[in-house]
Amino acid sequence: MCGIVGYVGDKQSAPLLIEGLEKLAYRGYDSAGVAVIENGKLRIDKAKGHLEVLSERIDGGAAIQSNVGIGHTRWATHGRPSDENSHPHRSGSGRFAVVHNGIIENYVQLKAELIDKGVEFCSETDTEVIAHLLEELYDGELLSTVAKVIGRLQGSYALGILCEEHPDEIVAIRSSSPLIVGLSDAGNFIASDIPAILSHTRKIYHLENDELVLLKGDGVSIYTLELEPVLKKVEEVTWDVAAAEKGGYAHFMIKEIIEQPRALQDTISPRVDDNGEIVLDGITLTAQQLKNIKKIYIVACGSAYHVGVVGKYVLEKLTRIPTEADLASEFRYRSPLVDESTLCIIISQSGETADTLAALREAKERGARVLSIVNVVGSSIANESDDVLYTWAGPEIAVATTKAYSTQLVMLDLIALYIAKRLGRITKEEMRGLLSSIIKLPGRVEAIIESYDDRLRELAEKFKDYEHAYFLGRNVDYAVALEASLKLKEISYIHSEAYAAGELKHGTISLIEENTLVVALAGCHRLFAKTLSNIKEVKARGAYVLAVTTEDNTAIEQEADDVLYIPCTKELLMPSLEVVPMQLLGYYIALARGCDIDKPRNLAKSVTVE
Ligand code: F6R
Repeated sequence: MCGIVGYVGDKQSAPLLIEGLEKLAYRGYDSAGVAVIENGKLRIDKAKGHLEVLSERIDGGAAIQSNVGIGHTRWATHGRPSDENSHPHRSGSGRFAVVHNGIIENYVQLKAELIDKGVEFCSETDTEVIAHLLEELYDGELLSTVAKVIGRLQGSYALGILCEEHPDEIVAIRSSSPLIVGLSDAGNFIASDIPAILSHTRKIYHLENDELVLLKGDGVSIYTLELEPVLKKVEEVTWDVAAAEKGGYAHFMIKEIIEQPRALQDTISPRVDDNGEIVLDGITLTAQQLKNIKKIYIVACGSAYHVGVVGKYVLEKLTRIPTEADLASEFRYRSPLVDESTLCIIISQSGETADTLAALREAKERGARVLSIVNVVGSSIANESDDVLYTWAGPEIAVATTKAYSTQLVMLDLIALYIAKRLGRITKEEMRGLLSSIIKLPGRVEAIIESYDDRLRELAEKFKDYEHAYFLGRNVDYAVALEASLKLKEISYIHSEAYAAGELKHGTISLIEENTLVVALAGCHRLFAKTLSNIKEVKARGAYVLAVTTEDNTAIEQEADDVLYIPCTKELLMPSLEVVPMQLLGYYIALARGCDIDKPRNLAKSVTVE
């Protein structure tokens, strides 16, 4: 995730900026930069790659003489990692510099408007529109100019802004992207994250959305967008550095689970326009090419493959195109029946998984059109695909995926709706209904996290000493069972398996005995009665059953030992909700067993070898 740090005060700013950026490096980045005002002139230094590249170039900051500056580590979203796309971005005249975290959703319109007025762009980023808008709307005052620019922006942002004509000031603002202010006797700071400034101050302001900050060396003033002063309470940070990196959470995994509503929002909202149309910026497939598709393969590894299993149900239901989900390591070696009439959807968080990349190449060689869903911009899979759709989940640090899985899932839903619409296979009402449910997903996920956090801690205590667990479900519930089972086993080391509930009788039921843990996913309305029968079958053999179902299915209480109720949504979207308590369950059981949650034994975050 991008990182921001800014400083104005008595000290030299550039070394402080480099130090702050180093503290933000754990979040993941692909380029870095600083902007300062040196001898009255705005100076920008930025470079793709490791922070050391930038640091060496400016001698750790010692090569720059300045008491005011902003710095940034970039995690590419709009535009590949490159020097030009790195922040800070500069306005045409060169007097404004801006660093930005978040996504400007209406940047395409703003960019077109600015280009019409003769503005020249140097980067592929959404952020650059902000620098040019500052120039365009400049009224001599930095604060009021920024307020006007904010009026033009849609999306999420944390901004740090410098202007050559106001050499002792930084203006900052946030909306749906974190930003704090740090206060010290030797100057004041802004930062996207506490670790960036923790060695200099523990006194901070937490900013609310759209609070405008005027940062000077000897004071900080905060205003509304109408420039009315805001009084804020200074808060004292008590975390140590390690806790601060995780935002105060014990592990990156729980932090990333909690970040899911934001990640979903960032992934969904740029893809749905004001008219309720799906806009898939990364797809260049023509209507004719779509019509020619006879078969879809979804190919991936691990959790990304589990997304593909959900995708099979969703794509077949909505597009009526035969769809297979396949493991990349199998697909690549079995001469898959793939040709020009095949669409191959490749899913990968890292974009570097060796088997997935090899499967992509295999599919392309056989003539398939490759559309990838990737989280890391500029990764190998993104580069080699015909079309790429990015999940805006931000960097995922915990080995066990959570927010990447959730955003991949919703991306597949959007792709299915997009294809169904273009092929005329979905009615307006169905489309409207599904889209409005998709838009509600971030809020519903947030509600589930809030209501179940404590409950799952308690259940984890109950289940922590089980040796085996079985996850059951039908259709999309089965697809979620695969992921729920993997989440539990990979971080808690409890043996766990997932089964299509209807398969139980064909063998596996012989494993069920007194006190076997069975987690029954029963979100799928159509099949609720069937899953309920399976619950009865395992109960009769002594299993302890935890059931997950929707709020209206209270009949389940007569059969299951514990029930987790989740809000009702369209059947095809249930996985997005069901998976969340399952992630929490895995996390809290692993916590109760004292496991190394963020780095489970024998596992790596990115599997770049076969
Ligand atoms: C499990 C997990 C892995 C990954 C798999 C693919 O929690 O994270 O199963 O899903 O290794 O990785 P990517 O998505 O980077 O291709």
